[in-house]
Amino acid sequence: MTETSFPRPRANMGQPVQRYEARAKVTGGADYPSDVRLARTVHAYIHTSRVARGTIRAFDLASARGVAGVIDILTHETVGDSIRQVPAIFGGGYASDSVRPLGSPEIAYWGQPVAVVLAETYEAAREASQRIVIDYAGHAVPAAADIDAERSVVQALEPMAFGVGDFEAAYASAAVTVDARYSTPAQHQNPMELFATQCIWEGDRLTVYEPSQYVNNVKFGLAEQLGIDAERIRVISTYVGGAFGAKGFLTQRTALVAVAARRLGRPVKLVATRAQGFTVSGYRAETRHHIQLGAERDGRLTAMRHEGWELTSRADQVAMGAVSMTARLYACPNIVGRVNAVAADRSTPGFMRAPGEMPYAFALESALDELAHELGLNPVELRRLNDTRVEPIAGLPYTSRSLMRCFDEAAARFGWSDRTSQPGSMRDGDWRVGWGCASAFYPAHAGNSSARVRLSADGRVHVSSAGHELGQGMYTMMAQVAAEELGVPVAHVTVSLGDTDLPPAVVAGGSASTASVAPAIMAACDAIRRRLGVENAPRSGVMPAMEASGIGVIEEFAETLAHGNPPESMHGLYRGRALPSGGAHLADRVQFAFGAQFVEVRVHALTSEIRVARAVGAFAAGRIINPRTAHGQLVGGMIWGIGSALHEHSEIDPRNASYINANLADYLVPVNADIVDVQAILVPEEDELVNRAGVKGVGEVGVVGMAAAISNAIFHATGRRLRDLPIRIEHLQ
Ligand code: MOS
Repeated sequence: MTETSFPRPRANMGQPVQRYEARAKVTGGADYPSDVRLARTVHAYIHTSRVARGTIRAFDLASARGVAGVIDILTHETVGDSIRQVPAIFGGGYASDSVRPLGSPEIAYWGQPVAVVLAETYEAAREASQRIVIDYAGHAVPAAADIDAERSVVQALEPMAFGVGDFEAAYASAAVTVDARYSTPAQHQNPMELFATQCIWEGDRLTVYEPSQYVNNVKFGLAEQLGIDAERIRVISTYVGGAFGAKGFLTQRTALVAVAARRLGRPVKLVATRAQGFTVSGYRAETRHHIQLGAERDGRLTAMRHEGWELTSRADQVAMGAVSMTARLYACPNIVGRVNAVAADRSTPGFMRAPGEMPYAFALESALDELAHELGLNPVELRRLNDTRVEPIAGLPYTSRSLMRCFDEAAARFGWSDRTSQPGSMRDGDWRVGWGCASAFYPAHAGNSSARVRLSADGRVHVSSAGHELGQGMYTMMAQVAAEELGVPVAHVTVSLGDTDLPPAVVAGGSASTASVAPAIMAACDAIRRRLGVENAPRSGVMPAMEASGIGVIEEFAETLAHGNPPESMHGLYRGRALPSGGAHLADRVQFAFGAQFVEVRVHALTSEIRVARAVGAFAAGRIINPRTAHGQLVGGMIWGIGSALHEHSEIDPRNASYINANLADYLVPVNADIVDVQAILVPEEDELVNRAGVKGVGEVGVVGMAAAISNAIFHATGRRLRDLPIRIEHLQ
């Protein structure tokens, strides 16, 4: 059974308060963006390209237009230049990719929106879409469909390359070496809630309802696309039904819906299908890795080289480049990190929960297990031997690092000391039993943010900030922080978020929401306490001072600059450009959250069926505001890790670079039967440097080490080292 109750708070943890929006969610009271009902709505259906490259020569829309209820069909011929090019996020802009929505007849990838049908009903729009006939040219040349395709183009990314010492010499003279290659597949976030957008114009003002991890990114990016003043656009996203990186930045659909609504003078609603979701937004690109490790006989690392290859599109050069993480984890005097982008005829990849960390950790933490086996060393002790207080490239200190405490707590709970080291030596009837472990890590990011807090004489508090509720517990966190800072019960606090009319906040990405928005709320509460003259008094003194003052309402606003950000970056907060920073990229220090993951797998001796019988993770991530929501994030992350290791794989048809399993029947994710016993331990950690809230973030770290821990456990069970994800039955036969 998965542990469903939440852990009791330990040192430096807040109360496990119940979710702020729990009742609204389970009673249907929570309006997700596609639930908002607007009068006279027109339904949009996007028609997507069925080739991966080439040009549209002509449309035959006659049959589609003949469907009853069809109002209009937009193509590049009608939209063309009315949507302006806006730079992609990877080039310092706003968009998920550089393909202009219905901007030209050029096809950049299979699944690209090439027409939008507008109709009185969803069904009519869908039927018309199915009747659209397109004459393509130039698509006969086979697409470069994936990272291994012959026609894909490899480019070394020099800015992501780095090193220290002399790797070649150290590797050549190392007592023990490991040289191995690993791969991870394309994967899609598949949030339960589909990619929806509703737009309504009232005069020259546009309101957009769209599930988003960054409402201000949509607002400012869309304003640039439409060539209008951003203050005329409001983006509302009060609940998001899962995002995992896929709803982070402006996609092509938003401008198309906005333009359609303006042309028709009616609200327009788009809900992209599950299959279309595979190319509507970014995804986790497939990766390849080459790792070389050199060590002394006693297990101390002397040389390490990690080179990664990541798939990208022709239009955009995207790479997560998480050698910036893997090369900074362990003591080692000679290190090389390299990253390559491999361009193919695919849609632009993007962020998916622990975007770079998951694949890069799979490679490194698997290689370390291979090294431990070569050395005859307990894999936990290999990590302990190479633990460090300073990161090995620049010699910068970690703000805090509790990696070995995580290993010790998780190992104790797991019962690791009972493991027999020989692969294949543990068995339970027909099941081969294997125990494996890995480190987890994730950069502690933060971004510039702001918040407003209002305290009323009756003790009610209202907190507002344009952060985002993705299901992770943002409402709850915001209420708790304000309640604590003002000494009022959390039940007296109400929260507004997910709306560009509110004080702007960071993108809900990079596990940075709490680390960014909590300090802004704290600063606004400081200002309230200053007004009352109780800035340094105990929090219990706030309400008595409020009563004594006779003031009815105090409202204060504060903005906070994330550590390491230059003051001029505050401007970006008001332009939809508040992005996570920190982690491995600070000048004075490194800040990571750490964890340790232990897994028991069972591999059936006759059928090779693979089961994850239990998993124990322990995580140290600074202050935990709410152990209940943090625990949910970490357990969820670990389950994602199981999916990344054993299930998730977006299968690509090499003929046209299409996804052939673009649905939840064929795209495998872990189901309840796959998840037997998953436990997450919250390890107390205090970090006064990382940010004012002392928070490192827990949204992604839970995913990171799981795939390696599972692969390592499968090696322990079977003696078979599997270096390519996902690991399936057929790989063990
Ligand atoms: Mo997350 S992949 O940083 O939205």
